[in-house]
Amino acid sequence: MTGSPVRQPLSPIDRLSPIDRLGPDHRRVRVELGERGYPIDIGAGVRHTLPEVVARIGARRAAIISARPLDAVPDPGVPALRLPARDGEADKTMANVERLCSHFADFGLTRSDVVISCGGGTTTDVVGFAAACYHRGVAVVHLPTSLLAQVDASVGGKTAVNLPAGKNLVGAYWQPSAVLCDTDYLATLPDRERVNGYGEIARAHFIGAPDLQGRPVAEQIAASVALKAAVVARDERDSSLRHILNYGHTLGHALERVTDYALRHGEGVAIGTVFAGRLAGALGRIGPDRVAEHLDVVRGYGLPWALPAGIDLRDLVTVMRLDKKSTNTGLTFVLDGSAGPELVPDVAEDLVLATLAAMPQKQAA
Ligand code: GLY
Repeated sequence: MTGSPVRQPLSPIDRLSPIDRLGPDHRRVRVELGERGYPIDIGAGVRHTLPEVVARIGARRAAIISARPLDAVPDPGVPALRLPARDGEADKTMANVERLCSHFADFGLTRSDVVISCGGGTTTDVVGFAAACYHRGVAVVHLPTSLLAQVDASVGGKTAVNLPAGKNLVGAYWQPSAVLCDTDYLATLPDRERVNGYGEIARAHFIGAPDLQGRPVAEQIAASVALKAAVVARDERDSSLRHILNYGHTLGHALERVTDYALRHGEGVAIGTVFAGRLAGALGRIGPDRVAEHLDVVRGYGLPWALPAGIDLRDLVTVMRLDKKSTNTGLTFVLDGSAGPELVPDVAEDLVLATLAAMPQKQAA
């Protein structure tokens, strides 16, 4: 067997944070981080609690950055600057952070005010980073509008922008003051974008979430968030346990990169999850049934599982060597095993290439 696990596994389900019911259609999960702890509210219409959230923060002004129509964000109850944004990796830039911060300054936003983001994960990432930088940190509230952002990106305080050299290379840990996952926002998502969100839910199946297939979407979001909240509370800064959230991501990120982001994040994670199962099987860490479960779960959510056409496997390996989980240029993966998911460094390149070569690959059109 190549590679030895160096991290502790996450025990399954008992580690999920509690999910409180505040009403028939309103669930709350807390990220317990002491004075930086915060609630994540999930349900239809929860965006309308925004004025209460802003009042709790004590802000006197708000800067609202929205990739949705500007009226997608309710009146925050204080004078507000409203700025349009665009979802997408192309706008996750340092230049955009400078632009946003300049608008904050012109508006007179102080460090005791609040920034509010509304959009998909790329918008919550870039606005979160602007909030982390402005006056060395101003409160931020996220209103994620895509399934992907609700189950993962807006929770846990990772903020970032891209550089030409790579995705998320500049960023900060900056926990939001609250996250409002309004499921009403999901009603108008294009089908591909909705399915994309299931990439993170599918990978959650293998790192301690219950089986969420066929469950109501609010329950799927709450369980995924409860898992993430538990992990972040124990390893906010990604020094060990938090790596498990990157199950399926080593290949997923590489696929995004080599396809120039034509493949969406959740799609890449889905294919990467199937691959992680196969690699764990090839290393003798799990048996054939568990390997097959990876494909079953990914397909069950309607996600892609085959490599895109025309991908050069060696390019994938080159990009995977730059993965953030690695502290050197070895090939590092989060892999399932008898003790649960673990970070497995220095997996042999030959085995990675052989496992990639055995993956189904789409035919060129
Ligand atoms: N999306 C992985 C993390 O937040 O750590």
